[in-house]
Amino acid sequence: MNEAFLRACHGEAVRPVPVWLMRQAGRYLPAYQEVRKKIDFLTLCKTPELAAEVSIQPVDILGVDAAILFSDILIPLECMGIGLDFHEGKGPVLNPPVRTEQDIERLHPIDPDADVSFVLETIRILRKELSHKVPLIGFSGAPFTLATYMIEGGTSKSFVNTKRMLFEAPHLFSRLMDLLTEVVHSYIEAQIRAGAQAIQVFDTWAGVLTREDYARYALPYVTRIFKRIKGSGVPFIYFVFNGGHVLEIISDSGAGVIGLDWRTDIKTAISRLGSDTVVQGNLDPCALFLPEHELKTRVDSVLKQGLEAKAHIFNLGHGILPEIPNEKVRLLVELVHGLSS
Ligand code: CP3
Repeated sequence: MNEAFLRACHGEAVRPVPVWLMRQAGRYLPAYQEVRKKIDFLTLCKTPELAAEVSIQPVDILGVDAAILFSDILIPLECMGIGLDFHEGKGPVLNPPVRTEQDIERLHPIDPDADVSFVLETIRILRKELSHKVPLIGFSGAPFTLATYMIEGGTSKSFVNTKRMLFEAPHLFSRLMDLLTEVVHSYIEAQIRAGAQAIQVFDTWAGVLTREDYARYALPYVTRIFKRIKGSGVPFIYFVFNGGHVLEIISDSGAGVIGLDWRTDIKTAISRLGSDTVVQGNLDPCALFLPEHELKTRVDSVLKQGLEAKAHIFNLGHGILPEIPNEKVRLLVELVHGLSS
């Protein structure tokens, strides 16, 4: 079993540097598209054998050092009593959106063993099939990011409904966040029990908050979750997209590994976080459109900066896009391993 990723999570400066890629299972891979021809996205997430198959595709095709569970951050929301749908080309739709006290009253906590047994079964299958390969990462959305999907009813540009609730009805917002914190905690705990060997928490939209609002309305809830799962010994990675302005306080969350998007270079991040930090990141996904020699220069730069951290796990600064040529992604993994050995 290739332990490089887990050793790096625990703070060891491993060579070659381990690499996995956010959204490594997905539409840029022809093998994934083959599976998707037969089945819609949500059904795929709920069919353990197929979800396991697409999780393993990037391990076999790209040679990455970790697998990530194939699922979606929005899956547990459906179990709380809100409709979830993925429309082709339109992204996720949550219906009806949660905006009033009555809307919140309709929601309820989840019982992971009953409500998301398919996720836990996917994890168990993956652990068996990956036993001689690489570790398995489980994941969840962070409470704030999940709250935005519930309140907006989908993706948003301005997050006006979320911020409106936060400022007009803070007691409602904190009720929703308390509930989501319970849900995320029980969901992560169940994934760990089923065999997840690391957990990544995605806070995709927390960066829309000012530093003060992030510290008050988002951070305390993830911190609560990390505190409670710390005893498991499983490493957790906290990724805040567009979170450059909150970096110093992100380290207060208690996460062992800090995920960086591409906007803040690793060198700057380490000067603010301290050299005792384990970082993950952070090549701009669109750099994969560059010609090979320029891609190589950028990968080398990210790796050199990673030397300033206690340990570095190479990743993109956000998910792979469907438009990215899959041969380039394979090349990227080769470059990371080759340049850092
Ligand atoms: O990383 C992996 O390979 C594991 C699987 C994974 C998916 N979504 C599969 C997926 C993970 C870890 C996620 C996380 C996720 N989902 C996030 C956080 C990460 C981030 O991107 O910031 C968010 C915000 C979502 C919500 C979500 N899911 C959106 C906005 C969309 C639609 C956009 C799109 O690309 O179509 C999805 C759909 C989705 N999730 C797909 C995949 C492979 C595409 C579905 C398809 O096959 O058509």
